[in-house]
Amino acid sequence: MARRAPLIPAARGAVCPPMADLRPTIPPEDTSGKKKPPERFRSRTSIVHRDGLYFWRKAAIFVPMTEPISIETRKGLPAHLRVLADRYPRAEWRGHMNFNDLTSFWLERHLMFRQVLDKVIGDTQAHLDGKATRYGPELSRYTGFFLNQLHGHHQIEDQHYFPQFMAMDARLEQAFEILDADHHALDHHLNSLADHTNLVLRALQQGQTARDEAGRLLAAQEGFKTFLDRHLMDEEEIIVPIVLEYGAEMS
Ligand SMILES: [Fe+2]
Ligand SMILES: [Fe+2]
Repeated sequence: MARRAPLIPAARGAVCPPMADLRPTIPPEDTSGKKKPPERFRSRTSIVHRDGLYFWRKAAIFVPMTEPISIETRKGLPAHLRVLADRYPRAEWRGHMNFNDLTSFWLERHLMFRQVLDKVIGDTQAHLDGKATRYGPELSRYTGFFLNQLHGHHQIEDQHYFPQFMAMDARLEQAFEILDADHHALDHHLNSLADHTNLVLRALQQGQTARDEAGRLLAAQEGFKTFLDRHLMDEEEIIVPIVLEYGAEMS
């Protein structure tokens, strides 16, 4: 007789987000005639929660991006976009008179994303090593949290921070095009991360060890970490120097 599926909270529909039910959907065309934000910063996807399930909504916006500055291949900001980053080295940010509480909070959100991703990577490695004790529930809970929080973070940046900051220094216009394209690319990778996570959770729910699925998830998690680190690092070196140079507030 088959083993009963492990009762992770998602499977019981209780505490954790039901990651096993994340699935992509394509929204119908918007015919409402409502005013939209500029296309550059229009939200690409949204996560909706309906009847106990989570759904992705995608908007199909094509952003041409040349190879050297795409998130998958970029090694850092090009020299011509480092005019402020070079003037304000990272080690001096917090001591500058224009460094403010909201900028500090924003940097702490980035740190939190890095820490949560490191936790799920560590948990997946521990599962593969046979050392994890609550892998399914923790994976569901923390990955669901990560997906939703990072998505919301990108929306705030797209709709509030980027339009506000890009108007302050015309020399950095292309830097904001890079950040916008990064968000598009990260959405794709977020989707892949959700899919790989769901494959592990489904296998665990069916009483399997999910070793093969967890191995593929680990590769997806580590790939995501590479892209996220690149994006956060460059984004910080664009935004914080603007705050310091112009005394800008994140509002
Ligand atoms: Fe961002
Ligand atoms: Fe950010």
